[in-house]
Amino acid sequence: MIKLEHITKIYGQGDENLCVLEDVTLTLPRGKFTVLLGPSGSGKSTLLNLIAMLDKPTSGTIYLDGQNITALKSETARSALRLKKMGFVFQFDGLLPEFSLLENVDMPALMRGRPDPKKAQQLLENLGLGAISHKLPADLSGGEKQRASIARALRNDPPLLLADEPTGNLDTARKQQVFEDFARMSREQGLTVLMVTHDVHAADYADEVYTLENRKLVKTK
Ligand SMILES: Nc1ncnc2c1ncn2[C@@H]1O[C@H](COP(=O)(O)OP(=O)(O)O)[C@@H](O)[C@H]1O
Ligand SMILES: [Mg+2]
Repeated sequence: MIKLEHITKIYGQGDENLCVLEDVTLTLPRGKFTVLLGPSGSGKSTLLNLIAMLDKPTSGTIYLDGQNITALKSETARSALRLKKMGFVFQFDGLLPEFSLLENVDMPALMRGRPDPKKAQQLLENLGLGAISHKLPADLSGGEKQRASIARALRNDPPLLLADEPTGNLDTARKQQVFEDFARMSREQGLTVLMVTHDVHAADYADEVYTLENRKLVKTK
């Protein structure tokens, strides 16, 4: 599904440079829930941004379904691929406050000119939010909002879900629920999930775990 080969990322130039990733090689198996652990500042978001094509590696190659995505030249090609193959969940839910949960979840499809509220409702039901889909984000708990943002990330049926500290704002019980959601979605729907986090408890829910330390990845599960 995703393959990183000999990825090095150096920010800046000359004496000011900072090497964040050094010769990192990683394969994400299809349909598995992979967790990448590392302390703050270790380069987790950097690695995720490289996969998301929001930044380029200094050297090395990334393949998505066999396609070399580091070689893509145009932003149009990158965004088309992102829209088709990737869903994103971040620390902040990013829901639009003036729209209901249902409308928020349907938004990615609306933007492609293919709204389908029934499908959005189903996605919310899968995450236990069906009964409150008409509510505005302001009327929900942090955990509910974050799960709605997961439903939104899945709206265009991406095979790959990328999550960057998605539980950073949640209490322990809500965190566990999100980890369980990811584990279940990979197991039942064949979704490939990569979550980066500093929360070591996430490892219990994952199929595979890597730790990022001193610019290198170590497989720990
Ligand atoms: N665009 C950038 N330019 C320069 N340095 C950066 C940039 N983005 C991140 N960094 C630095 O790279 C290191 C890793 O950052 P990041 O990938 O955000 O870590 P994490 O997500 O694990 O907290 C940090 O020292 C950070 O300051
Ligand atoms: Mg980060």
